Amino acid sequence: MDYQKILDQIEEELNYYDVYGEVASYIPELAKVDPKKFGMHLYCTNSEHASFGDSTEKFSIQSISKVFTLTMAMKILGEDLWERVDVEPSGDPFNSLTQLEYESGIPRNPFINSGALVICDVLVTHFEDPKAELLEFVRKITGNKEIDYDYTVAASEKSTGYRNYALVNYMKALGNIKNEVEPIVDFYFHQCSLAMSCEELAKAFMLFANKGRLLESDEKIISKAKNKRINALMQTCGFYDEAGEFSFEVGLPGKSGVGGGIVAIHPSEYAVAVWSPILNPKGNSELGMAALEKLTTLSGSSIF
Ligand code: DON
Repeated sequence: MDYQKILDQIEEELNYYDVYGEVASYIPELAKVDPKKFGMHLYCTNSEHASFGDSTEKFSIQSISKVFTLTMAMKILGEDLWERVDVEPSGDPFNSLTQLEYESGIPRNPFINSGALVICDVLVTHFEDPKAELLEFVRKITGNKEIDYDYTVAASEKSTGYRNYALVNYMKALGNIKNEVEPIVDFYFHQCSLAMSCEELAKAFMLFANKGRLLESDEKIISKAKNKRINALMQTCGFYDEAGEFSFEVGLPGKSGVGGGIVAIHPSEYAVAVWSPILNPKGNSELGMAALEKLTTLSGSSIF
């Protein structure tokens, strides 16, 4: 398969002029990002690479980071994790509070904000310095020691992060948060601020396309069984109330972030990341979704 040819065609056919959303602005720092940015990088299990555009420029990965923290929490708690967070799609926006009330503070899944905040609580309990541990994990799976938080973005999100504070406070009232609120949201705002390029994200997500192992060294990061579950959660919950649409249009497990990034994997074939900051009303990259739809259509490589 000539993936570079396919990516060239995607770049040629898609243009931000045809896109009607806006960049995320509820995190003030994200509103400053150039809406015209567009890049894509695909990394194959046969070690080939294909890319175009702004594929090496770092951006705020936001909710894509939830896949990394979930992986770390599953390694720590195993099956016990599912007592504190469920594995069902929510059908609600990523920052919704409503289901928590009638579901006794147990988030629907680890990718909506409430679920990711419970995961943060698990990691804050387990590690003395969870921010350092997460950096170490991401640097290891990318083989890149330079990856870091964007502290300006983290502080910016904290300044307007009332909904996330509300989610943690509410879950604490319902008994599903063990630590104090501040260290949990501090860790969460930092994980969301991780700055990575499409190239780095494709490399990081290769482990999920490669049965839980690093491609270059074959080192096992997570068991095959856990890897299967992480991919299943990306498929069913990675796009919140647009998870059905992403499955329908693209047909790959994936995860989005309000920085405009989307990562998707084809089990055993490739990991791909795309970035375009203009979001659709559900908070997912408009052009990113279109690019991935073209990728699986042109290559015939959806999992369905
Ligand atoms: O908590 C928030 O609202 C952001 N830090 C992350 C949200 C996000 O990326 C949703 N994904 N599309």
